[in-house]
Amino acid sequence: MPKPIYVLSGPTLYLLGTRVPEIYGRETLEDVHRLAEARAKSLGYQVVCRQSNHEGELVDWIQEAREGACAVVLNPAGYGHTSIAILDALKTLSIPVVECHLSNPAAREAFRRRTYVSLVAAGVVSGFGARSYELAVEAAAGLTR
Ligand code: DQA
Repeated sequence: MPKPIYVLSGPTLYLLGTRVPEIYGRETLEDVHRLAEARAKSLGYQVVCRQSNHEGELVDWIQEAREGACAVVLNPAGYGHTSIAILDALKTLSIPVVECHLSNPAAREAFRRRTYVSLVAAGVVSGFGARSYELAVEAAAGLTR
């Protein structure tokens, strides 16, 4: 069994399902994690799914992924647009990183159009709601082969 794919989500995503559902969808974070897990399992992978509102905790988990994961799927949420600390942590990884967003930030406010994560991500999956996570897990699994 390969090392797990880390599926990490940033601030406020614990409110999925109730937070602006017309933008982020009606599925809860638990639903999203279940979908990611099922897709990973169908491909012979496990996932470790975590969410934090705290930049430093996300940095810690990214560092942990250096040894503990075969790939990282990251929805950095608002930190994607602001966090050089998360970018620097991601730069220490030698495993693939797939950036993931429920909404399509490119079609929203100008400040969402760029993320620091994109500088190091192998690719970005955005705009498909909960399915973005499934697709991102599939992409990450494909990159580990
Ligand atoms: C998000 C998009 C970000 O711009 C926003 O700050 C989020 C969620 C998404 O999943 O669509 O919190 O990452």
